[in-house]
Amino acid sequence: MRRAGTAVAAVTALALAGCSADDETPRPAPSVAPSFAPGAEGVGDPYFPLYGNGGYDVGGYDLKLTYAPASGQLDGTATITATATQDLSTFNLDLAHLVAREVTVDGLAATTKAAGNELVVTPSAGIVKGRAFTVVVDYGGKPQALGNETLGVGGWLRTKDGAFALGQPESASTWFPVNDHPSDKATFALSMTVPDGLEVLGNGLPGERASSAGKTTWRWVESTPLASYLAFVVIGQYRVSTSTHDGKPMIIAIPESLPADGDAARSLARTGEVADFLATQFGPYPFDSYGGVVLDDGRVGYALETQSRPVYGNTFFVGRPNATVVAHELAHQWYGDSVALARWQDIWLNEGFATYAEWLWQEHEGDRTVQQSFDRVYSGFNWSVPTGDPGPSRIFGDAVYQRGAMTVHALRRTIGDPAFFALLKSWPAEHRDGNVRTEDFIEAAERAGGKDLGDFFEAWLFGKQKPPLP
Ligand code: TRP
Ligand code: ZN
Repeated sequence: MRRAGTAVAAVTALALAGCSADDETPRPAPSVAPSFAPGAEGVGDPYFPLYGNGGYDVGGYDLKLTYAPASGQLDGTATITATATQDLSTFNLDLAHLVAREVTVDGLAATTKAAGNELVVTPSAGIVKGRAFTVVVDYGGKPQALGNETLGVGGWLRTKDGAFALGQPESASTWFPVNDHPSDKATFALSMTVPDGLEVLGNGLPGERASSAGKTTWRWVESTPLASYLAFVVIGQYRVSTSTHDGKPMIIAIPESLPADGDAARSLARTGEVADFLATQFGPYPFDSYGGVVLDDGRVGYALETQSRPVYGNTFFVGRPNATVVAHELAHQWYGDSVALARWQDIWLNEGFATYAEWLWQEHEGDRTVQQSFDRVYSGFNWSVPTGDPGPSRIFGDAVYQRGAMTVHALRRTIGDPAFFALLKSWPAEHRDGNVRTEDFIEAAERAGGKDLGDFFEAWLFGKQKPPLP
């Protein structure tokens, strides 16, 4: 009795559109008959066309997972609330290497098909455009990282004492079913059950913790919508310090393998101070918690601006404290996280500003001035890669980070300090929790500067030759 013929499915869909299926009240037929079609298998990002999916918009994820470090097995459920953005017959979720055992849509069993890293979900009835629906995915398996030749490994990695999930531009699909593209921001709640004695770190506010039968369930809730690559989990043996900064919880975790008062711990201890400095430049801190997590793992030669709580590879802190990397990742909380990308091509809006924040922080610390930082990079720079269109394999290259920061500074010299620093604050305020494109920034900069900046941005973002010094 599982199969529903096409005609029956269509009738059910109409019923679901206006009222619950068992409501007998006749309703007028919709003026335009729904034409159900599959959601696209990607959101159509020009650089990564298959990332994410079309046809719906996620409002929130709530994961209830159990991880067994000894076997590497992850099991649980993902509850996803979403809204259809077209009349949907089927839709995709991104899910890599894990198996969906049972999927329901609004409590009714859905059929599924795994196709590579896509989970194709066919609800028992079509979903009308504009309608909210809830998907529950019961799933599990042994998560694996996503290998990317040019961009590095993303996603779930096992460690001696646990595991972590981290990565950009994609990582989320290695541990939960997701619309894996930054254009679909959603709230993110995580319950993670692990053996007693291990810590679990995640995004946002800590919730209730409960233990039974040798296991502890940790809860983390990020209630400001996040881009999926900004969700993370770290499981292992950590010293966790909880304090309050600016009236909000600040949670910092240092691996037990590192000294409690070593360079990593001392660098992250400056998180509140750095965030306060950045707030003087960018405006109010955009989230309801603070913090940071250090990973002592040779595979992690990077840091990532995971929302509200960046994760830092210990390599940044070997032999010296380093607050500059903290300034970089915290700058992303405004530029990248709160104001997120609509497409990966525009990543200079994240990295150019985070690198510029390093320059601002270093000047604030009495180290080299912003102008000196600019001059060092400008002379001898290779201008062949355009910052505004670096190509998918160069989204983490110098054209994005260094030339991006130089573009920011050149803009400052072009529109003057008052307009520039006003823009540094108005941009995060106007686009808080939103998604942006380079065109939006150019428009905002022209408004702030009160002049046409077409030629300026053409040269600094898209030219292949050294732009003249402003
Ligand atoms: N966005 C990170 C930063 O600038 C760097 C980064 C690039 C990264 N690719 C990554 C981090 C992959 C983790 C995984 O801070
Ligand atoms: Zn960065």
